[in-house]
Amino acid sequence: MNRKTLITLKTLTWIACLSPFALLVYQAVTNTLGPDPTSTIALTTGYNALLMLILSLAITPLRLLSPRLSWLIKFRRLLGLFAFFYASIHLATYVALYLNFDMSVFKTDITKRRFIIAGFAAYTLLVPLAATSTTWAIRKLGGKRWNRLHKLVYFAAICGIIHYWWQVKPGVLSPMNLTITLFVLLLARPVLTWIHERKARTVYSRT
Ligand code: HEM
Repeated sequence: MNRKTLITLKTLTWIACLSPFALLVYQAVTNTLGPDPTSTIALTTGYNALLMLILSLAITPLRLLSPRLSWLIKFRRLLGLFAFFYASIHLATYVALYLNFDMSVFKTDITKRRFIIAGFAAYTLLVPLAATSTTWAIRKLGGKRWNRLHKLVYFAAICGIIHYWWQVKPGVLSPMNLTITLFVLLLARPVLTWIHERKARTVYSRT
């Protein structure tokens, strides 16, 4: 892929990732967030955090599918950081608008409400990933340790999905699409790695 195409794709990704936030700001300014503005902000930011996290997990399987897609790696960090960006606004919305900064309620929620526990677990897992997303951190930790640490992203996504299911009313199936996508991605990675290794072994044994 040439430099110009890459810059264009990166610009489009920035626009796509920032558009839910821009829309929220626009709705807040024009007073069109709906009957429950706090909920609109929380639901939009929570959903986009999970969506971007899952999209970032699609990059490795896609690269394993075709070597021609190896350039996609340049988008993984961007998507992961946007996931963290939305998750942080999501958490800030909860602390500021739901709790009114009353941390005693937070203490109760974090021990008693299972969907808050799952959301908190997802966010806690995302923090070290965002903190070590720089090139400096990769160099400092070393590739192997960095890769091991970044496996946490799968647990963060699973906790995010559990949080989503526990948050919706019984019988509501809106988390299903993201759940199936995550399930396929979690399965695709080991399967594709196995196929790759088998191919490599066959080629090696023939030479
Ligand atoms: C301490 C951390 C978190 C807290 C306290 C929290 C809190 C909440 C609350 C209160 C809602 C319901 C909003 C409403 O019904 O009005 C919600 C929904 C949601 N949250 Fe979180 N959350 C946290 C972390 C996360 C993280 C890290 C993710 C994603 C990785 C996430 C994804 C979602 C999703 C997908 C929804 C449902 C969106 C929808 O129904 O469209 N949350 N969260």
